[in-house]
Amino acid sequence: MKIVANLVLILMAVAWVTPGHAADCKVDKKAADLSIDDLKTLYECVRPDLIKGYQKKKKENALAYTDWKAASSAPQAPGMHSGQYLMTYVNPVGFDQYVQYNTDGTEMPVGTIIAKEAFTIKKKGTIKKGPLLFMEKVGLDKAPKTGGWKYTGLKPNGKKLKVKAEGFCHACHQAWPGQDFMGYPVEAVRISS
Ligand code: HEC
Repeated sequence: MKIVANLVLILMAVAWVTPGHAADCKVDKKAADLSIDDLKTLYECVRPDLIKGYQKKKKENALAYTDWKAASSAPQAPGMHSGQYLMTYVNPVGFDQYVQYNTDGTEMPVGTIIAKEAFTIKKKGTIKKGPLLFMEKVGLDKAPKTGGWKYTGLKPNGKKLKVKAEGFCHACHQAWPGQDFMGYPVEAVRISS
């Protein structure tokens, strides 16, 4: 028994110091003072561990989204989404249109899937992993109450997140009808198509 317990402790210690473990990624400035370059560096450190967690349960979208192109140059915290730093990826069906960041009359093609990684920078500069959220355009016939979008999410450990699509996700996203209910990354990190 004791040997097993020791082994578990050793394994835990090894996991703790493995590079790319989000717990090792730290910032030494206040979150508000971080430049876009600081955030890019931090993100490089955090991302492998985020992906590892999201893909743990081998859910289809979690496995697929790492092949999609990023629709922002660095993670940003827009103030909504619980102060989380967000990084957005869009599948090939919708990418070109997404990165126009149109504000008027936007209509994303059915089949578009948008993935958004999230993490939080805590007061001491340590990182807390956040959920991986998805918006999938399924069309108004399939999702009449949520503008044709299906909202889903995975926890940092890859398990399904219980999502109140209409009452929570879309209740906020419906603020952007001209943008097909998308919020878009803050302007400083938008990329040109
Ligand atoms: C309080 C408002 C609010 C709520 C609630 C909310 N979102 Fe968002 N969401 C935003 C904003 C603002 C953005 C754009 C921010 C950014 O990317 O920097 C966004 C962006 C997104 C994106 C990237 C596509 C886009 O809109 O540009 C996805 C995917 C997403 N949210 C999914 C969800 C899901 C799933 C839920 C419910 C679990 C949810 N959101 C709840 C405000 C909200």
